[in-house]
Amino acid sequence: MSTPTRRPLTVLPLRPHHGGRTAMTCHYKCGDACSRPLENESDNEYFGDVVQASVSRRRVLQAGGLAAALVGLTAHSSLPAAAAPAASGAEAGGAAAAAGRHGDRLWPMGFRGIAPQPATTDKLVVPQGWTWKPVIRWGDPLFADAPAFDFAKQSRAAQEKQFGYNNDYTVLIKRDERRATLVCNHEYTNDELMFAGIKDSKDLTAEQLHTIMAAHGMTVVELTRRSPRSPWTYVRGGHTNRRITATTPFTVTGPAAGSALLRTKADPSGRKVLGTLNNCSGGLTPWGTVLSGEENVDQYFKADPAATGETKARRARYGLSSSGRGWERVDSRFDIAAEPNEPNRFGWVVEIDPHDPHSTPRKHTALGRFKHEAANVVIDDDGTVVVYSGDDTKFEYLYKFVSATKYHRGDSAHARRHNAKILEAGDLSVAKFTGDGAADGIHDGTGEWLPLTRGGKSAVPGMSLEEVLVFTRFAADKVGATKMDRPEDVEWNPHNGKVYLVCTNNSDRKPSQIDEANPRANNKHGQIVEFGPTNGKHASKSFVWDLVLICGDPKDPSTYFAGYDKSQVTPISCPDNVTFDSRGNLWIATDGQPSSLKHCDGLFMMPLAGKERGHLTQFLSVPVGAETCGPVVSFDERTVMVAVQHPGEVDGASPAKPVSTFPYDGQVKQPRPSVVQVFRK
Ligand code: FEO
Ligand code: CA
Ligand code: CA
Ligand code: CA
Repeated sequence: MSTPTRRPLTVLPLRPHHGGRTAMTCHYKCGDACSRPLENESDNEYFGDVVQASVSRRRVLQAGGLAAALVGLTAHSSLPAAAAPAASGAEAGGAAAAAGRHGDRLWPMGFRGIAPQPATTDKLVVPQGWTWKPVIRWGDPLFADAPAFDFAKQSRAAQEKQFGYNNDYTVLIKRDERRATLVCNHEYTNDELMFAGIKDSKDLTAEQLHTIMAAHGMTVVELTRRSPRSPWTYVRGGHTNRRITATTPFTVTGPAAGSALLRTKADPSGRKVLGTLNNCSGGLTPWGTVLSGEENVDQYFKADPAATGETKARRARYGLSSSGRGWERVDSRFDIAAEPNEPNRFGWVVEIDPHDPHSTPRKHTALGRFKHEAANVVIDDDGTVVVYSGDDTKFEYLYKFVSATKYHRGDSAHARRHNAKILEAGDLSVAKFTGDGAADGIHDGTGEWLPLTRGGKSAVPGMSLEEVLVFTRFAADKVGATKMDRPEDVEWNPHNGKVYLVCTNNSDRKPSQIDEANPRANNKHGQIVEFGPTNGKHASKSFVWDLVLICGDPKDPSTYFAGYDKSQVTPISCPDNVTFDSRGNLWIATDGQPSSLKHCDGLFMMPLAGKERGHLTQFLSVPVGAETCGPVVSFDERTVMVAVQHPGEVDGASPAKPVSTFPYDGQVKQPRPSVVQVFRK
């Protein structure tokens, strides 16, 4: 194990960064967003504690208004009965043998919680009696003619046929008991860790820049296992294997397709975009496609300092003020001065068909343009399709799309054709949260969905429909949406019908800006909002909410674990992506604990029902510098998958001095982002 030391970063600009991330993470993940002006300078009010006597949240909850239709989600629906508890393993996984609250309970999937790991731990720590194995690693060849990974000889041609870098959203689509399709996003690259001797993007050769572009995007890859009890392996040359990169052609759909705001010299139609960027998390649709959120796309564009007036304001609202990543040296569309509309063609929800490697992926303008963390679908019992999506930047908003047409059940060719178009038309709204006051001792209240489009037309005075969709943040500012603490994943829990909105942190919130949903200033640890529609339909105009988790060290009096005894729970910080097991327990992946708690990031489990509601325990811990992505729990509950993103991403690390060699294959002495499976021995 190498022990990283915190050296001042020499290879990147020394700018302040204070968002729970290292400077390297800030630079590559969000384009140094923390050290640039806040993107949301609108004067939207902070709601404070407003007592809403007219609607009693409790009354609505008791009326059972949260029961949602349980339709679709085929890949996750065939869940077995509760897994039998494992025999207690003799050996501990890392610090898993820790005494006390971390290992004192055997949870239903057959694991005992692990202790938090110090942030310098270069180890994937799993529960006692469990083990892990990579499924696929950065550079693994996907096709028969793809070259084997060679750290010293990475090239564009090789990378286009290999698993990409920095795996993020991960979904497993079941084919049968022994076969599945894995779809994975590749959010961004750590250029200094991918290549030796890189101190600045100016050092990158044209070939390296093209390799980096090919390492972005998405991967579709088939998996197989000998029996349902064997670990998964990926199928090199699988029929549906596919790489989507920063140059793959996409079709633009929806009301802003073809808009003058989307036209460029290379694409006067405004309907054909090359590539997808910064794909963070995503969602599986009930009709079998995969959605992916284009998130911090601003960092790839070299800003145009000559911009003035409305143009300048629009770019500032979308963070387009960085000097870029050098991509403009090989493709001029990444220079805003040369191609002013190119940034407008990123920041969308994209949809891909993982079953057809020849299909053209799409970008859906009807869902608005912002820094989409993800996009997750719920279907109301009348077939209306609702998509929730968070805009992951400090003080940004929670959005909802409601389809104009209904979901067709079944897998007929007609249903497939129909469902494929559902996200091309509908209405977009944004959330306003209202607290019901502190007297009840809980953070809760009501909310309303403020329309941005209505009946397919702009609902925002002074903005055209195309402007609402391309500059959605301005539209949301105008209608008075609630500024949240970096809204990340938004996931519907089929077990209880409620939706979970993860707010990861916001160190810039001031005491004067706190409200009942964002209750802490200098919020380093984040919170999770639980909400549901007031009338049982997600298309509803109103909702009720409460905070189910206010993260941090449980000794911190500002924390809250759904009312559970805080002496019995484990610390957690910076929740990011969530999923549910077959009992409806919430599984939480974190991004930022090394800075906020001095612990490695991890995967946690928290029951949401019964007397254990709020009893948070830790399932695994990822290696030094890494963040926990994915996660996949519900496929069959024999295996938990996580995407270990940016292992070894520590300030000062380089190929000459790696701080992690995860996944420790013995040959490549460099960190490789990988999707791993964790299973009982
Ligand atoms: Fe890519 Fe919102 O984290
Ligand atoms: Ca309250
Ligand atoms: Ca993340
Ligand atoms: Ca995230």
